[in-house]
Amino acid sequence: MTGGPPTNARDAGRPGDVRIAPSVLSADFGMLAEQVGEVARAADWLHVDVMDGHFVPNVTIGPPVVASLRRHSSLFFDCHLMMTDPGRYLDDFARAGADGCTVHVEIGNTDELITQMRSLGLRAGLALNPDTSFDAVRPYLRDIDLLLCMTVFPGFGGQSFIADVMPKVADARAEVEASELALDIEVDGGIDVTTGRVAAAAGANVFVAGSAIFGHERPWEAADAIRASVRAAAAAR
Ligand code: DX5
Ligand code: ZN
Repeated sequence: MTGGPPTNARDAGRPGDVRIAPSVLSADFGMLAEQVGEVARAADWLHVDVMDGHFVPNVTIGPPVVASLRRHSSLFFDCHLMMTDPGRYLDDFARAGADGCTVHVEIGNTDELITQMRSLGLRAGLALNPDTSFDAVRPYLRDIDLLLCMTVFPGFGGQSFIADVMPKVADARAEVEASELALDIEVDGGIDVTTGRVAAAAGANVFVAGSAIFGHERPWEAADAIRASVRAAAAAR
C-alpha cells in the first residue's frame, strides 16, 4: 500500500451506542479468520489485543496479522495497543487496516499520540489501567473518541472482572453527559453476561469480551446474550 493516510471506510457506529467487541485474544490463532467469520454477525467491532512483552508481560500479534484479517473481515477493527512505544507502529497499524487504535495513558506522550492517530485517519482511544485515576485522562476527553477503562490488569485473557473500576466508569459517563462529549466508554476484561450488566449500569457502552465469547461452543450466541444483557441494563440506567 502506498500514498497518504488511509480513509476509514468502516462504520464505528454512533458514540454511546451499545457495541459488542469480541476479543481475538481468546480465539484459536491457527484458525483466526474462520473464528472471526463465525462471530461476525453478532459483533459490532473486533477487538485486537496487541501486547509487546514490555508494557505487559505477554506477546501477541501485530500489524501483519491485522493485515491478514483485514482481507477476511469488514468489521471495525478496534486495536488495543498494550505497548510502551505505540507511536512507532501506528502508521503500520493504519496501513494494515486498523480502524481505531487505543494507547495507554500510563506510557505518557499522550498529546502527541492522539495527534498521530488522528493524522493517520484512525479513531483515537485512550486506555487506563484499573489503578490509574480518572484524573489522568480527564484533560484528553475532548480530543479522543474512546475511553477504555480496563476492568482487569492488562496482559492476559480469562481474568476476573474488577468491580472497583465501576465508580470510574460512572465518573466518565457523568462527564460525557455533563459536557455532551461524543465519546465511547469501553470496558475490557472479565466481561460476560453478568459483569457486562454491571458495567452497563455504571455507564459503559462498548463491551470487549474474549473468553466469554470464544470460549463458548457457539460464540455468536454468547455475543448475542451479552448484547441482550447490557442493552437491558443500559436502558434501565
Ligand atoms: C487483556 C485484554 C483483553 C482480554 C479480555 O489484557 O486487553 O482484551 O482479551 O479477555 P477476557 O474477556 O477473557 O477477560
Ligand atoms: Zn483489550
